[in-house]
Amino acid sequence: MREPNQTRRLLRELAPYRRQLVLGLICLLIAGPAAIVPTLMWMVVVDYVLLGDRIHWLVPSLLIATAFYAVSAFFGAWRDRYFEFAGQAFIRDLRERLFSKLLRQTPGYINEQRSGDLQSRVISDVDAVESSLISGFSTMAQECYTFILVLGAIIWIAPLVGATVFVPLAICFFVVRHFNERMKAYYRAARNALGEVGARLQETVGGFAVIKGFNRQAYEQAHFTAATDDHYKKALKAVRLRTVIFPSIYSIAFSTNVIMLGLGALLVYKGHFTLGGLVVLRGFWWQLNSPVRTLAQVNDLIQRALAASARIYQVLDAPVAIEDKPDARTLQHARLPIQFDRVAFAYGAGGKVLDELNFLVKPGETIGLAGDSGAGKTTLLGLLARFQDPTGGTIRVGEEALTAVAEGSWRTHLAVVPQDTFLFNTSVFENIRFGRPDATDAAVYEAADLANASGFISRLPEGFKTVVGERGVKLSGGQRQRIGVARAFLANPDILLMDEPTSAVEPESEQIIQESIFALMKGRTVFLSSHRPSLLRQTDRVFYLEQGRIVESGPHDMLMTRNGPYAGMIRHWTELD
Ligand SMILES: Nc1ncnc2c1ncn2[C@@H]1O[C@H](COP(=O)(O)OP(=O)(O)OP(=O)(O)O)[C@@H](O)[C@H]1O
Ligand SMILES: [Mg+2]
Repeated sequence: MREPNQTRRLLRELAPYRRQLVLGLICLLIAGPAAIVPTLMWMVVVDYVLLGDRIHWLVPSLLIATAFYAVSAFFGAWRDRYFEFAGQAFIRDLRERLFSKLLRQTPGYINEQRSGDLQSRVISDVDAVESSLISGFSTMAQECYTFILVLGAIIWIAPLVGATVFVPLAICFFVVRHFNERMKAYYRAARNALGEVGARLQETVGGFAVIKGFNRQAYEQAHFTAATDDHYKKALKAVRLRTVIFPSIYSIAFSTNVIMLGLGALLVYKGHFTLGGLVVLRGFWWQLNSPVRTLAQVNDLIQRALAASARIYQVLDAPVAIEDKPDARTLQHARLPIQFDRVAFAYGAGGKVLDELNFLVKPGETIGLAGDSGAGKTTLLGLLARFQDPTGGTIRVGEEALTAVAEGSWRTHLAVVPQDTFLFNTSVFENIRFGRPDATDAAVYEAADLANASGFISRLPEGFKTVVGERGVKLSGGQRQRIGVARAFLANPDILLMDEPTSAVEPESEQIIQESIFALMKGRTVFLSSHRPSLLRQTDRVFYLEQGRIVESGPHDMLMTRNGPYAGMIRHWTELD
């Protein structure tokens, strides 16, 4: 069975907060009995003060009741506080763990996820665990304790009554247990449906321009409504079951009222029991009944927490595709030869996208990657960036297999200029500095100069301080690319990977970007994927790929005179232009 393991795991994860939990528990242990005394004072007042004719003891009795109430209120408040503190710390740490786990994953894993669903796991599922687990834990501990104390007190003053009320309470317990599994399944389904709602929202926000452009609002609305409707239906299932279980339990629990009153009255009538005892039973009835009610509610909360935590553990337990070996090597620099030895790659269970790649690239050599769409250029660059590792063969850097090199140490010597540079919603300056966080201001300005970006940046409303908007929406495609090139200049990498760096820009700014790219390439090992003859011509060698294999390689001019498939493709493109 999975459920107990999961519960145990959640409880184990509370271990770091044990100091607060133990303090909370101590407060609970004190507050519990203190809360019972005021009720017991009813018996004292009826039997001892009134029937015993000791009215001068009335005020002291009231004072005692008040004092104990004060103690229970004080420690009760601290109990809640400690438990809440532990709960808040727990969710902070859980979110941090989720986030750091995500950062360890490869881009491939992230691409497989839906960002809206991920968001709902990190935000609302964690919230659900906190509110249910911690408050559930504290309420459960408190109510169980009260329950035992009260039951003990009842057995002490009337053993027969105590033994009899125990029966319906035990039934309640089993009813709750019986429905747990089904309840949890419903909550799980509802949470997944909520994740879907988040995913739909996220996608609509992400593809907003496309939705508007194709006038597909009604379609998106219908899609979203279907998701919220699905969540509604699944939530209703849980509600339906809950509204059956809760009243059933309350009714069974209520029978204790009848038992206590009937049996108690009978015992008083027969002279086995005092009137004060009966009055106290009346008071205790609620204290006995309330734990049973809360038990049902708390159990409900815990089922929700388990459903939410299952979604959290899916993220926390997901395998990480690329992890450093314990003896991973650190590279001081990457001015090393790069060798592909029978390298192959397949995405997931799909067929091979790259196969039989064999080549040696000298340090400082520049390589152009050419080939039709889908030939595998981006995938090849991804292998070099270690966004994924080969599924066959070996990539070597110097003498070392790339998989034996610490991931972080490899990446410090690497810069990537993608097709569409991602900018963060901060200033132009900070976006460039992303390439090297410890760079001086002067170095950032210099990098912008080298990337031919200073001119347009100075014309922005606030120059380098201009905030670029989410994903850099306030800049043109060409401007974003120049910031991407500046970032790479600043990073000053030994190895440069560029994936169609000019394909998203218009010819005029392409000219400017190309100049800065040529400058950037100097003195580095470069892999450049492009459809532009003007860029490919500047590389030392071109690898021409067809369906994941290199079918031709050599300097651009040589391949052109050889008049093979590469030359055919270039002619075809030139004609298209
Ligand atoms: N995440 C992925 N999962 C499964 N298959 C993928 C994935 N990414 C790419 N592919 C497949 O791998 C093959 C190579 O894709 P890749 O992106 O490397 O081509 P490319 O040469 O860069 O093409 P383009 O010139 O259009 O950018 C394609 O057939 C593509 O469908
Ligand atoms: Mg590509």
